[in-house]
Amino acid sequence: MPQDLATRVVRWQKASGRNDLPWQNTRDPYRVWLSEIMLQQTQVATVRDYFLRFLQRFADVAALAAAPQDDVLALWSGLGYYSRARNLHRCAEQVMALHGGVFPRSAAVLQTLPGIGRSTAGAIAALCFGERVAILDGNVRRVLTRVLGFDGDLSIAAHQQRLWERAALLLPNRDLNETMPRYTQGLMDLGASVCSARKPACADCPLSKLCVACKLGQAERFPVRTRKQKRSAQSLWLLWARRPDGSVWLGKRPVPGVWAGLYCFPLFDSRAALDAALTAHERIAAHDLQPFVHVLTHKDLHLHPVQVQLVNSDVSWDPGLWVGADAWPNLGLPAPVRKLLAQT
Ligand code: ADE
Repeated sequence: MPQDLATRVVRWQKASGRNDLPWQNTRDPYRVWLSEIMLQQTQVATVRDYFLRFLQRFADVAALAAAPQDDVLALWSGLGYYSRARNLHRCAEQVMALHGGVFPRSAAVLQTLPGIGRSTAGAIAALCFGERVAILDGNVRRVLTRVLGFDGDLSIAAHQQRLWERAALLLPNRDLNETMPRYTQGLMDLGASVCSARKPACADCPLSKLCVACKLGQAERFPVRTRKQKRSAQSLWLLWARRPDGSVWLGKRPVPGVWAGLYCFPLFDSRAALDAALTAHERIAAHDLQPFVHVLTHKDLHLHPVQVQLVNSDVSWDPGLWVGADAWPNLGLPAPVRKLLAQT
């Protein structure tokens, strides 16, 4: 069964997988790494443009490492999950400092770099170097638990470990330089298309004959994960101060925390705390805009923008600076802040 599965995935990838994405048809680890980091939490359609813009601006790992972190965050703006961008930059610095500007060729060493977890390391090593190593991102986990009928609870680390072991047993055995990239991409493509979370298209799947879940008619039962991530909620008040010249006050968010490293309006935990940062005059000038919810991975942010049109120009709220309308579009801003600013 194992080699039959690998053969089927490889053949299907050639015929029906994705083969014309901008980060494909290359074995350049810089491009593959950049795309894999972007694709960790973001859809292919969105990543495409960001990927091309990044490459245009930072042609190689040396250029990325040499750039100021602010420039990297600004170019990342809108992709979300900004720890990825900070790790991306740190990773580039470490490739330069510790590996002579050359990406390591094994998953084991790649995994020591910032932002590169076990699955991403496996993807880079398999796609670029044909290493015989498994990947297990969300999509691939779904494909493999179904094919194998693996019903261990993946919120338990020991079961995850067991699935990694089972995944390794399914890898191709021959022509690794050719088959490993195809096989790896094929599993990702299957998970992104026919083997969808809801209503998978088992009739179109090259693995249906081997698939335990399909035989049971219970594909949607897999993967099994009992302990759901708990979501939390947080309310924040945003002080949107504007000067007569149209500039706005923005400060760099501390690390760690919400929107770490990005430029943002001053944030407060309550309206009273925001008021306390204003003079009596400014308090009268302040008016509340429509609150809205911004969804992060593990948290719903309830955002309350408060706009203050200033007459007096020499006020400030440390840390931060006045930023003109010509400059803020080029800063790394949280998506909701950018949206607010773009409305005016
Ligand atoms: N998601 C993660 N890696 C991917 C890749 N190489 N191609 C398409 N989608 C992906």
